[in-house]
Amino acid sequence: MLGIIGAGNMAEAMIAGILKSKTLDSKDIIVSNYNKSKAEKLSSKYGVAAAENIDVIKNSSIILLAVKPYALLNTLELYQNELADKVIVSVAAGISVSDMENVNTRLKIIRTMPNTPVQICEGVLAYVYGANIAENDKTFFQSIFSKLGMFIEIDESKIDAVSSLTGCSPAYIYQIIEAMSDAGVRMGLPRELAISLSAMAVQGSGGMVYNTGTHPAVLKDKVTSPAGSTIEGLAELESKGVRGAVISALYKAYEKTLLFSKK
Ligand SMILES: NC(=O)c1ccc[n+]([C@@H]2O[C@H](COP(=O)([O-])OP(=O)(O)OC[C@H]3O[C@@H](n4cnc5c(N)ncnc54)[C@H](OP(=O)(O)O)[C@@H]3O)[C@@H](O)[C@H]2O)c1
Repeated sequence: MLGIIGAGNMAEAMIAGILKSKTLDSKDIIVSNYNKSKAEKLSSKYGVAAAENIDVIKNSSIILLAVKPYALLNTLELYQNELADKVIVSVAAGISVSDMENVNTRLKIIRTMPNTPVQICEGVLAYVYGANIAENDKTFFQSIFSKLGMFIEIDESKIDAVSSLTGCSPAYIYQIIEAMSDAGVRMGLPRELAISLSAMAVQGSGGMVYNTGTHPAVLKDKVTSPAGSTIEGLAELESKGVRGAVISALYKAYEKTLLFSKK
């Protein structure tokens, strides 16, 4: 049984993705939340069970802690005895494996950094194993979470960079899709069609880079004919400093993430 403590946005994204990937059935998931109605809402939407924190822990062998970072260490401290032989999966930004292991050195910790597209199994889930995670714990964790998109073990020193690049960037891409759809509307397309076309163009372009392994500059060159229309748009993007803006936007998010990590 997978237990989930905290029934917010990330918990819902994970439940939706896990059910879509069919690694678990809804009867294999049990959720709790301080405000019980939020767990009950997920229960009626996805068919998972809703319960109190303590019952979630008692009935599960792997527990996803999907509470806000400020609540994570308190939760671990409060339930450290009951959690001692369970696999604990944290999604909290800025709380290190050693922060969690310092609560109780027996805890079996896996620190993850998912992004919200895990809900359609097209997310990124980066993870770091704690000191007490055994081979069978790894296999168990992978059997549930590996189908949520790109599933990648990383060095913990890189997790804040991954967080900026994958956790924050959906917001930037949504803004770009919205701007593209504004352009479509300006050209006379209906709004809904303009949004769908823009979203599909972004999804397809990302897929071309991800699935072919071709460098994005090579793919760009392939769609840019001499004196054509695409090069006109590219020149405009360059003159507006879009590349520099993207690099500094992601770096700003990274710097802020580092600040949170140091708190
Ligand atoms: N959203 C993202 O894109 C994203 C990406 C990567 C990682 N994360 C991580 O995911 C975690 C959750 O974020 P979120 O966006 O899902 O936040 P959220 O929507 O606020 O959900 C957190 C939930 O946890 C509940 N909660 C807090 N303390 C609890 C406790 N001790 N026992 C039971 N329930 C408790 C809260 O209940 P109440 O509302 O009743 O207080 C709330 O429903 C954070 O640690 C964040 O760093 C989020």
